[in-house]
Amino acid sequence: MPTKSFFHGADWNPEQWPEQVWAEDLALMREARVTAATVGVFSWSRLEPTPGAYDFGWLDRVLDGLHEHGIDAVLATPTASPPPWFTQAHPNALAMRRDGVRLVHGSRDTYCVNAPAYRAASLRIASALAERYARHPAVRLWHVHNEYGTWCFCDHCARAFRGWLRERHGTLDALNEAWTTDFWSQRYTDWAQVLPPRATQYLGNPAQELDYRRFLSDRMLAAYTEQRDAIKQVAPQAQVTTNFVLGGWVPVDHARWSHEVDLVAIDHYPSSLDGAPAQSAFAADAARGWSAAAGHGGRWLLMEHAPAHVTEDGVQRRKPPGMLARIALAHIARGSHGAMYFQWRASPGGAEQWHTALVGHPGPTTRVFDEARALGNRLATEGRAPSYRSAYKKVPFLTDQPAGPGPEGGGSGTARAGAAGRGEVAVWFDELCGWAVGASHLPMPVDYQGVVEGWHRALWRRGHHVDVVPPAATLAGYRVLVVPAAYLLSDESARRLDEYVHEGGHLVVTYLSGIVDEHLRVRGGGYPGALRDLLGIRVEEFDPLPSGAVITLDTGDAATGWTEHLTAPSAAVLARYPDGRPAVTRREQDASVAYYVSCALDEAATARLLDRICAAAGASPIVPGLPDGVEAVHAPDGVWLFNHTDEAHEVAGRQLPRGAVARLAD
Ligand code: GLA
Repeated sequence: MPTKSFFHGADWNPEQWPEQVWAEDLALMREARVTAATVGVFSWSRLEPTPGAYDFGWLDRVLDGLHEHGIDAVLATPTASPPPWFTQAHPNALAMRRDGVRLVHGSRDTYCVNAPAYRAASLRIASALAERYARHPAVRLWHVHNEYGTWCFCDHCARAFRGWLRERHGTLDALNEAWTTDFWSQRYTDWAQVLPPRATQYLGNPAQELDYRRFLSDRMLAAYTEQRDAIKQVAPQAQVTTNFVLGGWVPVDHARWSHEVDLVAIDHYPSSLDGAPAQSAFAADAARGWSAAAGHGGRWLLMEHAPAHVTEDGVQRRKPPGMLARIALAHIARGSHGAMYFQWRASPGGAEQWHTALVGHPGPTTRVFDEARALGNRLATEGRAPSYRSAYKKVPFLTDQPAGPGPEGGGSGTARAGAAGRGEVAVWFDELCGWAVGASHLPMPVDYQGVVEGWHRALWRRGHHVDVVPPAATLAGYRVLVVPAAYLLSDESARRLDEYVHEGGHLVVTYLSGIVDEHLRVRGGGYPGALRDLLGIRVEEFDPLPSGAVITLDTGDAATGWTEHLTAPSAAVLARYPDGRPAVTRREQDASVAYYVSCALDEAATARLLDRICAAAGASPIVPGLPDGVEAVHAPDGVWLFNHTDEAHEVAGRQLPRGAVARLAD
């Protein structure tokens, strides 16, 4: 069997199948050189068919079967889907929508994370699982819950929210100040008046909305840590994580959560087939950034992705031959400790019966299974996949090796990621900015993550090794730091950016950055209040363009969407709007350089600007002049190339057939 150094496997739901199928599954897993299977994710009604009465027999046989076949278990707690008996007994533990409608049983995630009955029942089943399986030899990693991110607006939430707000703001006066409640007569005189941001007549209060997301993130984190601690109480050596879902719709601050998991784990489902390589690179770089900033040395795991499709505008686009392995290996090259899928075997019925699987409805005699088997063989063969042996060797649960002496390479609380080295270029990514932009009544709707991904993609296309960094990351050492649409910028973040520039970094700030403080209060005196002096500019007016309008700057570059009216009292103008006003500026003081990009440049213009900035800062691509669609990644064992196109290319003297994944030096 392959070594434990990689997780290669999928969510496995044997409870959906008769036991004869389990034997076939285990044999097929061996054939595909699967090293780990995630089990138990949604099994609550099987594990605890009636309150307090457990049926562990089937899971005993599942775990024993995995162990006999040399496959590890990622053992989940099933709390993302309480059984019908629970909701029947505790109807007020069901989630309530913003408009007051109480959801009913019938899907997953229909619970309120603040309902005491839900928390107690969750802790009970998690503790029972820990008691039974903490020492089971198959269990390598615990997977608490599934994709935390559920919303609720019920009375349990209202009570808990008030408690959370008291801790955060101290007094009602401070809350009134932070939420600007004199606007529209919202001044609170009694804590009992404060509610979750439920459906209301017209626009809600953006600061209330933002605090509510922070609150839900903290409450879900408390639910996670409760279960984690119960597991660790029984088995102090247990490794525990949960799978992060990327997307602005979940009220989860993943940068903060990363401190509480033993291994940062993400699920990733791109939204377009052609865009999948760039989107995957972004997600991988973000996971590595969270891990590094939380002191995990940049190690992370792709816990779920789809084997054979990408859902694009509601259409399941089939991954063409070769893409299954290529995307998995690209994640691995960016530091993932393997590639796990949702799911192993396609369900015959149920809500996700058409989700693709490694073993689809037709069975294992398929192209997809052949590709999974080939990937398993490749991962198990030294030198045929990017290797992290050196980067991960001192982490016993990730490798077969015992922990070695000495400090762990590259970890310990800095952004200097051990896993895939540290890039010369970084992109700032703060999920709270996305919440802030989404929760406000801005001059124009802005897709925060889309803007950040656009800058990342431009650098990725130019062959740069990019780190995606949360605000708490160590910034010193990056030659270039791009801060796109950082609408919400705390005083501390502004100070750190200032320090970064004054230590010689080249900072690139885009429109809609540094506008509001942590309570969404606009910083006065001209935008961007938090960075105006650093950038040497002053924005007086925003001037978003109507949809579809394009303007051409004096450099010939095209801009769409966002534009601004600014002056540049202490910065040089690099590009101007058609009427001569500054559009892109550069401030140089001693060794420090700070650029400001006041409009949404198109992709080609963004790339040209970045080329210029990176060249001036001495930040070089991993491989210069990459053909479009070819990706280069700097893994610990060298530079890996991914040809995501349908044509052969020659890169740095190496022939790269269509769809190929190869190490540059081989
Ligand atoms: C998420 C969930 C899985 C499944 C997949 C479908 O990642 O964790 O249970 O629903 O999405 O893509």
